[in-house]
Amino acid sequence: MDTFALAALLLFISGGVSAEVVLEPQNEWVLRTANASFNCSTKPTGWTIMIWSLNGVLALAIAEGRGVLDGSERFSALNHSTTAQAKWEFIIRNVSRNDTGQVSCQVQSTETVTAGLSVQESGSVEIVGSNRTVMEGDQVVFQCLAAGWFPTPQISWTTNGTPVDQQFFNTSSVEVGTLVNSNSTVRLTAVSNVSVACLASIPALTTPQQSSVLLIVEKVEKPSGIDRTVLIAVTVSVSAVVLIVLIIIAIVFCCKRRRAKSSYQEEARSHARSQTAGDTPTRERQGQDNLGYVTDPKANDTSSELTDSKIWQSSHISTIQMPHVINGSQRDNNLYVNHPVGENGVRKHRHVTIV
Ligand SMILES: *[C@@H]1O[C@H](CO)[C@@H](O)[C@H](O)[C@H]1NC(C)=O
Ligand SMILES: *[C@@H]1O[C@H](CO)[C@@H](O)[C@H](O)[C@H]1NC(C)=O
Ligand SMILES: *[C@@H]1O[C@H](CO)[C@@H](O)[C@H](O)[C@H]1NC(C)=O
Ligand SMILES: *[C@@H]1O[C@H](CO)[C@@H](O)[C@H](O)[C@H]1NC(C)=O
Ligand SMILES: *[C@@H]1O[C@H](CO)[C@@H](O)[C@H](O)[C@H]1NC(C)=O
Ligand SMILES: *[C@@H]1O[C@H](CO)[C@@H](O)[C@H](O)[C@H]1NC(C)=O
Ligand SMILES: *[C@@H]1O[C@H](CO)[C@@H](O)[C@H](O)[C@H]1NC(C)=O
Ligand SMILES: *[C@@H]1O[C@H](CO)[C@@H](O)[C@H](O)[C@H]1NC(C)=O
Ligand SMILES: *[C@@H]1O[C@H](CO)[C@@H](O)[C@H](O)[C@H]1NC(C)=O
Repeated sequence: MDTFALAALLLFISGGVSAEVVLEPQNEWVLRTANASFNCSTKPTGWTIMIWSLNGVLALAIAEGRGVLDGSERFSALNHSTTAQAKWEFIIRNVSRNDTGQVSCQVQSTETVTAGLSVQESGSVEIVGSNRTVMEGDQVVFQCLAAGWFPTPQISWTTNGTPVDQQFFNTSSVEVGTLVNSNSTVRLTAVSNVSVACLASIPALTTPQQSSVLLIVEKVEKPSGIDRTVLIAVTVSVSAVVLIVLIIIAIVFCCKRRRAKSSYQEEARSHARSQTAGDTPTRERQGQDNLGYVTDPKANDTSSELTDSKIWQSSHISTIQMPHVINGSQRDNNLYVNHPVGENGVRKHRHVTIV
């Protein structure tokens, strides 16, 4: 107590002497059990006494000529003075949470200069689970637990060191006693193999604490997928083309047939008319043009009586000539004969098979 009395006396004696005092840093964040230190500087000479206080409690006094008047295990000071200025560093060792508050430096009887001290606690941080293997394009959720922090840690995420946008993660915190536990979940889309890191930081930490795991992305077999699609596309288009071609052929064939049939009908009608008028030359040609009857090699075969009779019947009943129809149909040995007008004015249909 003697030294403080002396300091107070010195302050009183040197009252009136003004000194410009600078205290730095203005704010300090330190982890519990670490050392906190502040510099107080003033004019090089003539200041006599410097008093340090923590949260309003006198901690240390320094006399210009004598140095530290009353040090302790917790509080100490270092001389950094130069010819340009007097500068003393105040050190608080092994800080505890209740050291948080204000540090002040007073030189002579000048106004007290203060700075802030914040004692913080660094806890643990860990991503729940281990390395994760997922399929490309999957949504992956990672959970990170940070426990035993003060104040509430700032949680952030990175993928390969690149920060993840805040919209992709949620963090909640709960106080447990004088400490805080945080829980953060991030939602990522698996694109490539990345290192996912969860970072917890507080001002007292120069580098955040982090935990990281690997996100291994298994590629979806895209090439085979493309192949399959191409195959399906090709099959479908080829089928479509074939179908269209078939339809066109069918239509063309159908039209030809119909035209042939109608032209035959026209001819048949004109023949019928000329027959009733007693046109003999037409009659004489009968049999000549009936190739189905004349050229069939089996026509003379006695073993095929039925066929013979059929052909005979056909040529006999067909009093009307239809040369090209017979010609055209003879190839497949099926002859469909449509008689628009029969001998007695009745429509007759004959299906003649030539073997
Ligand atoms: C605090 O300072 C003292 C001496 O001033 C030193 O021995 C100790 O290692 C320091 N502690 C830390 C955590 O830096
Ligand atoms: C105080 O000043 C000295 C010398 O200028 C420097 O080495 C030290 O880091 C300073 N301490 C603080 C807490 O700023
Ligand atoms: C502080 O350091 C300065 C410069 O080195 C020196 O002149 C001065 O005497 C020292 N003060 C004390 C009390 O040791
Ligand atoms: C620091 O202070 C705490 C009490 O606040 C004490 O238990 C611990 O032993 C101290 N550590 C050192 C290195 O002095
Ligand atoms: C601050 O905490 C330390 C232990 O961490 C304790 O010894 C000290 O009494 C506390 N001081 C106040 C003012 O609460
Ligand atoms: C994750 O993978 C890395 C690299 O293969 C390995 O070093 C690490 O131990 C793995 N971590 C876990 C939690 O399995
Ligand atoms: C964050 O929380 C909100 C509400 O609970 C939810 O709608 C949202 O999907 C969450 N975002 C992420 C990335 O988990
Ligand atoms: C963390 O939060 C998630 C939902 O956001 C919840 O399912 C989980 O249980 C929480 N974990 C802890 C340890 O609080
Ligand atoms: C990720 O790495 C694994 C091997 O560790 C590899 O098989 C896979 O193809 C990689 N994924 C991507 C998307 O590069």
